[in-house]
Amino acid sequence: MPDPLSEGGTARPITMHGEPVLHARCSEVTVFDDELVTLVKDMYQSMYAANGVGLAANQIGVGLRVFVVDCPDDEDERVVAHVVNPTLELPQERELDDSAEGCLSVPGPSSPVARPNRARVRGVDVHGEPVVIEGTGTLARCLQHESDHLDGMVYVDRLSTKERKRVLAEAFPAA
Ligand code: NI
Repeated sequence: MPDPLSEGGTARPITMHGEPVLHARCSEVTVFDDELVTLVKDMYQSMYAANGVGLAANQIGVGLRVFVVDCPDDEDERVVAHVVNPTLELPQERELDDSAEGCLSVPGPSSPVARPNRARVRGVDVHGEPVVIEGTGTLARCLQHESDHLDGMVYVDRLSTKERKRVLAEAFPAA
């Protein structure tokens, strides 16, 4: 299902791991105006320019609870959607998938992260209308990864100390 907001925006620079906005909980959106529409459009273009499958608003420096995805589920069905003020729901019976995960804010490396292979988010769109995004496979991983971003968590925070150091050193060799 296409999202009309996935066209017409302008790519903005991606915020890198270490910037405070990526490590703090994002705020609820309370104003549903043209600025929010522009933000979502720009998020899509920023994600596409960086070849990503998901992007949270704080990854372009905006600390609001919004994310976009353009991501396949485990049947290769592509889901293109944005969600504002999402709530993540995970199944009671969890089957974990430990595929490799990466992040545009930690460019280059990836590392396995065990996550439930199904997930759902409920929230609203830019007009305040209810949205549900539900999926399996990469989409399920993406919904969880982007929900983490809005809580100020980057996937490397879920790795062991040793693996986190390895991944960060690979992404930021000079640091
Ligand atoms: Ni990410």
